[in-house]
Amino acid sequence: MADIARKQIVLGVTGGIAAYKAAEVTRELLRHGIDVQVVMTEAARGLVTPATFQALSGKPVFTDMWDPRVPDNMGHIELSRGKDAIIVAPASADFIAKLANGLADDLLSTLCLARECPLIVAPAMNRQMWDNPATRRNIERLLRDGVAILGPASGDQACGEFGMGRMLEAQAIAPAITTFFAPKLLRGVRVLITAGPTFEPIDTVRGITNRSSGKMGYAIARAALDAGAKVTLISGPVSLAAPAGAETTRVETTAQMFEAVKRNASRADIYIGVAAVADYRVDNPRRHKIKKTDRNQLSLRLVPNPDILAWMAARPRPPLCVGFAAESRNVDAHADEKRRRKKVHLMVANLAQEAIGADDNEVTLLDNRGKHRLERAPKDVVARQLIAHIAKLYGSRTKRKP
Ligand code: CTP
Repeated sequence: MADIARKQIVLGVTGGIAAYKAAEVTRELLRHGIDVQVVMTEAARGLVTPATFQALSGKPVFTDMWDPRVPDNMGHIELSRGKDAIIVAPASADFIAKLANGLADDLLSTLCLARECPLIVAPAMNRQMWDNPATRRNIERLLRDGVAILGPASGDQACGEFGMGRMLEAQAIAPAITTFFAPKLLRGVRVLITAGPTFEPIDTVRGITNRSSGKMGYAIARAALDAGAKVTLISGPVSLAAPAGAETTRVETTAQMFEAVKRNASRADIYIGVAAVADYRVDNPRRHKIKKTDRNQLSLRLVPNPDILAWMAARPRPPLCVGFAAESRNVDAHADEKRRRKKVHLMVANLAQEAIGADDNEVTLLDNRGKHRLERAPKDVVARQLIAHIAKLYGSRTKRKP
């Protein structure tokens, strides 16, 4: 499947102390599967070297209108041609003033004026500059002109003061750009997702769990939100922040996860079971910590847990059901057998020992039309591709219904 998520942007870096943070922005955008072409102003070059951005982006960095590396000396048009957006981060007060007034006296401002694509600006300046009526006027004018403004945030400033004007962190900018680009394939669709491991207590302090980190499930929740879905996330114990915009319920045991899923089942249009659910639980977990005894063996009786995914798929009017099969060998064959047995519309197969806890994943999508392999990529990228595939299945399913 082609990488539908790969977008191309120009990252404009202007002269503010936050220019050093633009290196992190470059890295984060790349990590989110976005190609980055950096263009710097002269002032930015005084703060960070182009070599940093060149090394990170793998592309030459431009500053000069008349750079001989642009074949026809039309850098101000050429560099943004075919791009999906220009993002200026950091955007200084001076650069914002230029944009608001349509000035074009260097490569970056000329690119912005001559663009055919959206412009996104992440302001960064001292709090008094941000509060100045001239800056307020300029920002309002940019908003009226259809420019998207990201931030700024409030906090400690390089000048030693505290207040509004800090550039958003790279970790907030990159997801916002991803959301900006995401086609709203699931607008208003209600998606119920389980993520992470479950934890089955042995006694008050010990338990049985697995190595699932929740990263894949949380990435899918974010991708579904970006696609315009209403997301309910039922999460086992993980150390991840709840995705902004999702209704998140934290649970520990499989029984609790099952209860939470049941409560939300009738409201789900799509169910995605990403959780690594424990197949067994300890029969009668002890109410007190089990003491060590002289006996050198201790047996635990395990009883089977309900299969949440199979239960969901067997409902009278089930949502579109998606399962995740973690296999350690014969991945596709075992996963397809699971798809048929649990009667789910789509099974996502991956190699357990490589996927669990990792940042990357490589998966195969199995449905009744056949197999689609998604190549190895960061889990956020895989999640967006998966959501696009699910949206297609959901679309053809709702079309068939009267
Ligand atoms: N699943 C579930 N409830 C369970 C076990 C699994 O809802 N009690 C779901 C998982 O969330 C996942 C899918 O079933 O979407 C496949 O999980 P997996 O652990 O790979 O399959 P199992 O059915 O448990 O089979 P096995 O462990 O024998 O491979």
